[in-house]
Amino acid sequence: EVIVVKHLEPFRLSLEKLKVVSTRLRKDMIRGLGKHTHHRAAVKMLPTFVRATPDGTEKGDFLALDLGGTNFRVLHVRVMEEEQKMVKMDSQLCAIPQEIMLGTGEQLFDHIAACLSEFLDSQNLKGQTLPMGFTFSFPCEQKEIDKSILIRWTKGFNCSGVEGEDVVKLLKEAIHRRGDYDISSVAMVNDTVGTMMSCGYRDQTCEIGMIIGTGTNACYMEEMKNVKRVEGEDGQMCINTEWGGFGDDGSLEDILTEFDKVVDRTSINPGVHTFEKMISGMYLGEIVRLVLMKLTEKKLLFKGEVSEALRTKETFETKFISMIEDGLENAKKILTELGLTWDLVDARVVRLVCETISSRSARLCAAALATIVDRIRVNRGLPHLKTTVGVDGTVYKKHPKMQPSMHFLTPDCKIKFLVSEDGSGKGAAMVTAVAQRLLSSLT
Ligand code: BG6
Ligand code: GLC
Repeated sequence: EVIVVKHLEPFRLSLEKLKVVSTRLRKDMIRGLGKHTHHRAAVKMLPTFVRATPDGTEKGDFLALDLGGTNFRVLHVRVMEEEQKMVKMDSQLCAIPQEIMLGTGEQLFDHIAACLSEFLDSQNLKGQTLPMGFTFSFPCEQKEIDKSILIRWTKGFNCSGVEGEDVVKLLKEAIHRRGDYDISSVAMVNDTVGTMMSCGYRDQTCEIGMIIGTGTNACYMEEMKNVKRVEGEDGQMCINTEWGGFGDDGSLEDILTEFDKVVDRTSINPGVHTFEKMISGMYLGEIVRLVLMKLTEKKLLFKGEVSEALRTKETFETKFISMIEDGLENAKKILTELGLTWDLVDARVVRLVCETISSRSARLCAAALATIVDRIRVNRGLPHLKTTVGVDGTVYKKHPKMQPSMHFLTPDCKIKFLVSEDGSGKGAAMVTAVAQRLLSSLT
């Protein structure tokens, strides 16, 4: 086991190292916000045109789409001022087959428009044209709340003809191609923003949204005077950090392991989203599989015998990690299903590998979140900050040990985590509702 530990050493990040990572991220965030530096920034710091979190007086009926996580969802949401409640009237899951995720943009938006049509029929809503919030969990350059240009696909999507295009326009075109219904305004929202906004309705101190799911990312409320790439000095704006791209300029080279490099090289988007590939659900299982392969080749596991399943890309699912950490019985079952011949020592080593990979992921997330929280504290000139982070994502929800323990990194801040219920689609409806409130307060 001592030799095994040596192989896992590169995954163990000391507190000092995490502080170095945090300092680098802080610099990258400033670069991303800068007027002249943002074009080259690995951490994109995208303005979202969301200028306020909910104050509890929002109201109305809304539609919401939620695309980019494990599930695609269509929702009908009612926001009720009197009871300060946001109610999901109904919602529908709609599968996106892999050939559509990797097909043409036209196919993707036709599919979305068809799902929406079916939902409106089932809800008897086709006659009305409700405002819509569209949670689209990919990096977009927003010009306004309803104009959002896809910078690039991330995670498992790679549809042709969408990068560089306005997503609202593509959606509207698909709806017009059908001609059986129409939509009015569309507010485009990243899932981090949707999560922050839906948690923000329950807890008005929520000013950060974080996702640890298929991908990972966070947003937070930044002072407008620091957002040099958008005109205006007053008030705040929510910034979608796209921290998944941290390291894409080589800045994390010293902490990348040989396994991270293989994961990147064999992904559908090599060189893109370096930080995300060390943290999120789409990649964690694959990192574990590669480590197990290496240990087996070195004859430190399974008597040196690799099974066909273990040799095959992505057969070790991320959910196995938390199952194995939960107990050796699970480990034994999973190893048998993977066609491996194991003994008790093997099962223990596999558990150690899982713990090492998930703990690195949690520590990196904690370091990144600490950077944001501390930035908000410094922005406000406060010695101490108490704040709430809205969180979502299957990795966070299903893997208890992933819930970052933060205190060691931000002694000056007290952070409360609020898990988003019902996903970020509700938050997208809330963005639309807040925008309407701000608009009506102007007139
Ligand atoms: C969902 C949100 O609950 O969480 C989505 O509604 C988000 O908007 C998703 O993308 C992230 O988690 P996962 O694990 O599904 O990628
Ligand atoms: C990816 C996307 C980002 C999203 C995150 C979590 O990193 O680029 O926009 O927020 O995944 O879903």
